[in-house]
Amino acid sequence: MAVGVQQLAAALLFIFGGVLSFPVGQEMKDTSTCGYESCHATKSNMLNVHLVPHTHDDVGWLKTVDQYFYGDRNDIQHAGVQYILDSVVDQLLKNPDRRFIYVETAFFYRWWKQQSSSMQQTVKQLVNEGRLEFVNGGWCMSDEATTHYSAVIDQMTMGLRFLNETFGHCGRPRVAWHIDPFGHAREHASMFAQMGYDGFFFGRLDYQDRARRMMDKEQELLWRASDSLTPPMADLFTGILPNGYNPPEGFCWDQSCDDPPIRDDPDLEDYNVNDVVLRFLTIAADQARVYKTNHIIMTMGSDFQYENANLWYKNLDKLIHYVNAQQANGSNVNVLYSTPSCYLQELHRANSTWALKRDDFFPYADDAHDFWTGYFTSRPALKRYERISNSNLQTCNQLEVLVGPTSRKGPFGTGDSQTMRKAMAVAQHHDAVSGTEKQHVANDYARRLANGWQHCQVLVSNSLASLSGSSAERIYCDNLNISVCPLTESSKKFSVNVYNPLARPVSWPVRLPVNGKAYMVADANGKSVDSQVVPVSRATQGVRKKRGFAVNELVFQVQAPPLGYTTYSVSLLEDGPPPASTGHRAPTVIQNKYLQVTFDPDTGLLSSLNNLETKQSISLTQNFYWYNASDGNNSESNQPSGAYIFRPNSSTPFIISKTAKTEIIQNSVVQEVRQWFAPWVSQVVRLYADSRALELEWTVGPVPIDDSLGKEVITRLDTSIKTSEIFYTDSNGREVLQRKKDFRPTWHLRQSEPIAGNYYPINSRAFIKDDVDQLTVVTDRSQGGGSIHNGSLEIMLHRRLLYDDVRGVGEPLNETSDIFPEGLVVRGRLLLSLDRPSTAADTHRPLAQEVVLQPLLTFTDGELDPSSQLEFSGLQAALPPAVHLLTLSQWDEDLVLLRLEHQFQSWESKINSKPVTVNMQKLFSSLDVLGMSELNLSANQWKDEMKRFDWTPQKEERPLLKTFEDPSMWEVTLRPMEIRTFLLRVSLRSASD
Ligand SMILES: *[C@@H]1O[C@H](CO)[C@@H](O)[C@H](O)[C@H]1NC(C)=O
Ligand SMILES: *[C@@H]1O[C@H](CO)[C@@H](O)[C@H](O)[C@H]1NC(C)=O
Ligand SMILES: [Zn+2]
Repeated sequence: MAVGVQQLAAALLFIFGGVLSFPVGQEMKDTSTCGYESCHATKSNMLNVHLVPHTHDDVGWLKTVDQYFYGDRNDIQHAGVQYILDSVVDQLLKNPDRRFIYVETAFFYRWWKQQSSSMQQTVKQLVNEGRLEFVNGGWCMSDEATTHYSAVIDQMTMGLRFLNETFGHCGRPRVAWHIDPFGHAREHASMFAQMGYDGFFFGRLDYQDRARRMMDKEQELLWRASDSLTPPMADLFTGILPNGYNPPEGFCWDQSCDDPPIRDDPDLEDYNVNDVVLRFLTIAADQARVYKTNHIIMTMGSDFQYENANLWYKNLDKLIHYVNAQQANGSNVNVLYSTPSCYLQELHRANSTWALKRDDFFPYADDAHDFWTGYFTSRPALKRYERISNSNLQTCNQLEVLVGPTSRKGPFGTGDSQTMRKAMAVAQHHDAVSGTEKQHVANDYARRLANGWQHCQVLVSNSLASLSGSSAERIYCDNLNISVCPLTESSKKFSVNVYNPLARPVSWPVRLPVNGKAYMVADANGKSVDSQVVPVSRATQGVRKKRGFAVNELVFQVQAPPLGYTTYSVSLLEDGPPPASTGHRAPTVIQNKYLQVTFDPDTGLLSSLNNLETKQSISLTQNFYWYNASDGNNSESNQPSGAYIFRPNSSTPFIISKTAKTEIIQNSVVQEVRQWFAPWVSQVVRLYADSRALELEWTVGPVPIDDSLGKEVITRLDTSIKTSEIFYTDSNGREVLQRKKDFRPTWHLRQSEPIAGNYYPINSRAFIKDDVDQLTVVTDRSQGGGSIHNGSLEIMLHRRLLYDDVRGVGEPLNETSDIFPEGLVVRGRLLLSLDRPSTAADTHRPLAQEVVLQPLLTFTDGELDPSSQLEFSGLQAALPPAVHLLTLSQWDEDLVLLRLEHQFQSWESKINSKPVTVNMQKLFSSLDVLGMSELNLSANQWKDEMKRFDWTPQKEERPLLKTFEDPSMWEVTLRPMEIRTFLLRVSLRSASD
């Protein structure tokens, strides 16, 4: 039940005797006729052709986002968004019939800031009259294969909030518009439905899928995007555009196109009106044959078009005029300026029934040997950096709320979360985290994230100073993954603050680069904690190069409270050389109380995995391989592998080494087998004493190319699990989808790429299972993977390619950097857990969450301030295991945005797939919740005002109507996979409370 704003306000007045006036004011009803009311009339007895003038403005691709905005570096690509918006506004004013849609708020925001107030007024009027309409409206048009839902929701919220605050309800987009992303995720559709969109349009889907849908008139459909949420919560009407997002052939009138203009003066040469009209009527008739209603849509625009909008509009005005003039001669085609929402409204009015879709649109192929499954892994280092940045941003957001204004202005200066939020939003673009941009643009995204993190660090330092009462300098070590941290390398006494952004306590292994041989580690109560020192591996020394000089790593387990921190102090006990190596003998077994892992003594490879609690045992071999990337010289197709496309030139990957040289380290905290496969491939198989998961820390690179062969490096797990061509992958880190080899649920697949055509995006986990065993692999970033053989799961880790794949980026994916001129080295982790299928989610859901939102470590040198507060939790109690605190961030001076999420699918867990109730007033320890209002998922509409078109599926399956009343005002019930979004009015509790 959505607590109505008015009801709530009334109730609050009742509860608090009129002291509070929450929520904030509702929009004034004005006389504007934006949205569906501003659509041009159509003719019910004719074929109505909706012309949608639009531009597709990538938030970075061949140029950086700011180069695109200004029109800088036109030598790379002629594109300048500021001129597009200038020119479009100008042209819209010339004729009130004209329409334009704008999509990417990252650009619109940049432009808006630079306009005079009179220009801003003019634009507001265009928006209020529906002549300029926002669609999609997120900061960017996110990638769907490699993004995590948490970051997507954040970037959508940021863009839509700007539109609402600038334009009010006329700025609220009614349709989602993902015309360019390279395949479409079910979770994206689910999110868009929960954000209140009435419909969704996109341009790219598998060419066989499209052909089948054209034949059956199923290019417009109803996507049921969740198997857990009650319909129509996650139902989204979805339309596939006829020409990708381009105009029909022969009708491109941008300055970047060469099609003939309409030459309509009979006194001049080359009069072509009859020819243009005839060609147009033919195209319209052809298009109408493959769509269901007497309305069709044509996207009139493309990448960075409308810089000189006069060219487009002058010709479109004429086209409309001359085509409609034929109605007098019996033509039944009616052309009009339109927008996607106006088109959608007509489809809704048609009151038809629509094919129901339950799976997703991956993988995407635009031809038999052109599978866009490479970008699932492209630029693995950027993909990981983006994921860590999300974790750090959530910590930054939370501390800003928990501490209040002193977090932004405090002993360490002025900090903010906004810079990082914008950097993250830009990084969600479909050529950003996807890895399909030019190298200099990838560098720009990374630089923005680093800069955002600098701003957040000040905020975090201020916050920790405020919460702990100690202004000691906080030191950040962002390179702990390669054992670099100048403070811990040299200090004899320091402390570690561990902040846990999850709403439940977490036990987490910490590894710190040190040079001593023995340390005393004490927790916040002064109790000594088991710690061990292990030598830094040669692989790590190789990656870190001259950036650090630690010979050892200090390893211990920390326990951090929910949404809070604890502090550990570390002091050197014994200096001296590293501990003697524990030996190079072939290991056979490592184990803790949960897992036993065996190795083949002859090969050094993993050989089995046993869960000691459930008494499960599987054989498990794991190794590294590479596919030889196609160079395009091939009789079947000249498609090479590149940033987008994965095309191995053989289905059999090369094994990097049949055996691994191994070294074993075993102590009371951790056991690890260090495997060395080649100068460029190594791995640590690691089992911490307290972990239910086996960690595989892989290090790959520089991928050799001296043989002139591009390489796509995978790891493959071959098990005794009896799968029958089926495996599972997550969608944007949330719901899990079943995948079947050489099969698509909605059409009869002719498989033409046995490997690339069976790759799917893995955002946070993949698994294989049979009746008794489930092996789940949790990843630390988005990667591509597949199950090519029964019982087997492979994950692509790194790619180094020598040819461009002719999709526009114009560079081979061949990453180097200043530190790695010989080729990028990438390190990451896979976490393996072996469970019974019926309880596996109880393990992998929290495990994946711990990888997505990882504890943040900060360090202070020297003795701890004895009066400081060593432990803090922002919660009164941990949230139940099914509930994830997805968002806690400052909205404005007084209000806080909170999202609570049920993180289990309805079928997944006996214990956790049940509704859970949370009491909002018993949530926070340092905040009083004074009022709350519920919003849609993107926080740009009050929940009780959210009203979407309803659509009828072809075969109506009656949804189970479950009514659910929240038991009380402050109690919020979450059902499986539900996310609920609130604005809270809070006040900080004073320390004396
Ligand atoms: C839509 O169609 C259904 C039957 O399929 C009919 O009952 C209903 O009245 C129609 N609604 C409108 C607005 O035409
Ligand atoms: C939308 O913005 C208006 C101001 O333009 C504000 O009053 C309203 O509360 C906002 N709506 C939401 C849902 O935040
Ligand atoms: Zn694009």
